[in-house]
Amino acid sequence: MSIELVKDVKKTFIEKFKANPLLVFSPGRINIIGEHTDYNDGFVFPAAVDKGIAAAIQKSDSGSSTAIALDLDSTIEFELDKLKPSKGGGWENYVLGVVAEIQNRNKVVGDFNAIFKGNIPGGAGMSSSAALENSVVFGLNELFELGLSKEDMILISQKAEHNYVGVNCGIMDQYASMFGIKNHALHLDCRTIKSKSYKIDFKDYQLMLINTNVKHSLSNSAYNDRRSACEQVSELLKVKSLRDATEVDLEAITGKVIPANYQKALYVIQENNRTLKAVNAIKNDDLDTLGALLYQSHEGLSNQYKVSCEELDFLVKQAKKNKHVLGARMMGGGFGGCTLNLIAKKEAKAFSDLVSEAYKKKFNKACSVYFVRLSDGTRIVK
Ligand code: GLA
Repeated sequence: MSIELVKDVKKTFIEKFKANPLLVFSPGRINIIGEHTDYNDGFVFPAAVDKGIAAAIQKSDSGSSTAIALDLDSTIEFELDKLKPSKGGGWENYVLGVVAEIQNRNKVVGDFNAIFKGNIPGGAGMSSSAALENSVVFGLNELFELGLSKEDMILISQKAEHNYVGVNCGIMDQYASMFGIKNHALHLDCRTIKSKSYKIDFKDYQLMLINTNVKHSLSNSAYNDRRSACEQVSELLKVKSLRDATEVDLEAITGKVIPANYQKALYVIQENNRTLKAVNAIKNDDLDTLGALLYQSHEGLSNQYKVSCEELDFLVKQAKKNKHVLGARMMGGGFGGCTLNLIAKKEAKAFSDLVSEAYKKKFNKACSVYFVRLSDGTRIVK
């Protein structure tokens, strides 16, 4: 966790509101494999990381509520009986959405003040949004003794994103952020919302993230389009979701689906299988197989599911040229953000230098390299 973040929000809160806040840290996540499978009731393999959002939060008796995003230097004031999504469509909708969804469950939240600060770069595909949502619901649950379970809380966070932000996301991000376990990744079944944790120790290898530092516009509508394409194909297949379909089932309806959607559904079915294979590879310490699966996942995301972009494809191509990288792929929703690379520890610095230079030369802008620790989920900080 980033203790500096927590100190910052605490200090600012005391200065501004003259009260001692409750402190919450809520992490972002990586995802080893299983991309765009979560809203198809499939499998994913994420982990919470040591980067995230710190929140200082306390009841208010001023008759209204205030939320401050310290790193954006942005403040909103709102009244709890008049909540609606803000037109600006920024960070505030994650906060307002969570409060509204708590109210929708007939739970009573009183006025509060909150200050947030994070160290996940926006648009990195590391779920700063889920971290923010979870910090709000976790803090309010504690302050107002709402009696919500962690399962309730992640469903509230997800609904906030659907109804206030307008992204029909799956449950992976909120789950990983809330339930993360230090040094472990979570093999999550998104249908049952139950996971099994696996200790991650890649020995001479490690995970390295490279951020393209781009987030292409329209990514929200493109995301929702992918989700509805999957739902249309499941309907044709007469299954609840693509999790229940096989490649053979899909082949049987070839003529009935436009080729672009056929490829998308095929990707999901294949990615779901890859995720199961990746879990086995980790069980068997078989990093070569894991690496190969990562590359296949990227191919599918780029060519079949069409959620990659030039910058991400370039970074994966650089990885493929380097024999010390066992696998790489884009991570998260896509259209920008990070690639995840499985690389020999002693070669990480050299590869990072090489790729940074090549990226700069090609796109005339910098990429950023991060190493993350797998961490515990959303929690109170004493
Ligand atoms: C975003 C969504 C998740 C998931 C990923 C893609 O991060 O919030 O629910 O669908 O994209 O795997």
